[in-house]
Amino acid sequence: MVNPLAEELQRGRRAAPCSLVIFGATGDLTHRKLVPALAGLKRDGLLPAGFAVVGFARREKTDEQFREELAAGVAEHGRTGAGEGFDALRESIFYHRSSFEDGDGYAALGRRLEAVERELGTTGNRMLYLATPPSAYSGILANLRDAGLSQESSDRFARVVVEKPFGHDLESARALNAQVGAAFAEDQVYRIDHYLGKETVQNILAMRFANGIFEPLWNGNFIDHVQITVAESIGVEGRGAYFEEAGVLRDMIQNHLLQVLTLVAMEPPVSLASNHVRDEKVKVLHAIRSFAPHEVAENTVRGRYTKDFVGGVEVPGYLDEPGVSSDSNTETYAAVRLEIHNWRWGGTPFFLRSGKRLPRRVSEIAIHFKRPPHHLFANNDLSPNILLLRIQPDEGISLRFGSKVPGPDVNIRDVRMDFRYGSAFGRESADAYERLLLDAMLGDSTLFARRDEVEEAWRIVDSIHAGWRDFHPRGYGAGTWGPEQADRLLGAGRVWRRP
Ligand code: BG6
Repeated sequence: MVNPLAEELQRGRRAAPCSLVIFGATGDLTHRKLVPALAGLKRDGLLPAGFAVVGFARREKTDEQFREELAAGVAEHGRTGAGEGFDALRESIFYHRSSFEDGDGYAALGRRLEAVERELGTTGNRMLYLATPPSAYSGILANLRDAGLSQESSDRFARVVVEKPFGHDLESARALNAQVGAAFAEDQVYRIDHYLGKETVQNILAMRFANGIFEPLWNGNFIDHVQITVAESIGVEGRGAYFEEAGVLRDMIQNHLLQVLTLVAMEPPVSLASNHVRDEKVKVLHAIRSFAPHEVAENTVRGRYTKDFVGGVEVPGYLDEPGVSSDSNTETYAAVRLEIHNWRWGGTPFFLRSGKRLPRRVSEIAIHFKRPPHHLFANNDLSPNILLLRIQPDEGISLRFGSKVPGPDVNIRDVRMDFRYGSAFGRESADAYERLLLDAMLGDSTLFARRDEVEEAWRIVDSIHAGWRDFHPRGYGAGTWGPEQADRLLGAGRVWRRP
């Protein structure tokens, strides 16, 4: 299988030499995602010749110990061939010990980077990746600025990549944006939403705007409603303490699902330039009104999984998960009905849902078309046409429509026209982090969330939280599709897909 990113090279999208500093280098993200992605890029020849990684963290360790630990992470989480890539990268990986608050540690980092730059020819370009808990961000940002590490010049870039969660609500997101802005200009900032790095999410724009047949139908005249689902079968997986503070609305809907929604609903951009695309995306969020507290109950459902059997095995309820408080008011499932108040979508609801411990891991966008205006096939209960964009797994696109069953009677049954990435292109999709790391190195911020997008998304989510203050999540059995109230959210004649 070929990595599609390898085509980047043929298209001349080759990143300039640079050093990547990872703050929080001993954490989970570095081991599970970042370094396996770098190893994958290296293996496919997509990293620049002059490239170095400097891990920055508190614990005492040597370069060699750090490399050993990363190698284990790549072996466990890397894709095919990543081990080989890591071996080629190994000698370019270094460890820098410092606390995040200690200014001297950053001055020392600057000297270390200069030494690495001389040794490996990384030319002074720097990417600074914040992979720490968000509580460390403000200290790191201030220290980077004070140490002069956020400054760029005409011949060297300095970029900062910020991981989610990007704030906890609108106020904290604004405060964080102000801190980021005090150290870096907006065009130096890359806010990660890993859903935007998924091949199938990027394909939403290609499908809509590289084809003539979909766009004329892509509006409320023809579309009845849209369902966006990100379901997970896992529970909170040892992240109970984090999840208690977040809940699925903050963890998934504020970022991944709203980002996907903007791509589905946006107007055609004038070009694929990063700000042209992001301008259109943010307009969609502007067109979604904040809920008044009394509107929240009828437009949202929040749920929490209870103990049940999944695949014959009993799994604990959310309240019994480690790190979760017994009087928790956190949701593990949320469904939201949103209206986009603009010319294209007025009156067409978008339903978003996401949850833990649902029956399957599946992410999809289902465009439900209106029924035909006249019921000609009287004995048949025709189902609506659905265009289904499957984000994961089984990546692809299918169209459901009615067809006559062969035989003397006129019977109509649903059939599917199906496109599958795997069989159409015979290749494996690159990991989202590979794409995003490469784009940040290339200085392409199209697939990163801009300051105003993040704040607009929080505005919407905050208005839901305000309405939720007084009511608790409803229970749903682990391994089911969520609380039954979610079915009523859709309104008469509509049902959630059960993928
Ligand atoms: C993360 C959330 O952003 O996305 C996790 O914090 C979630 O809770 C994960 O499990 C899902 O990502 P993916 O790519 O596995 O769908």
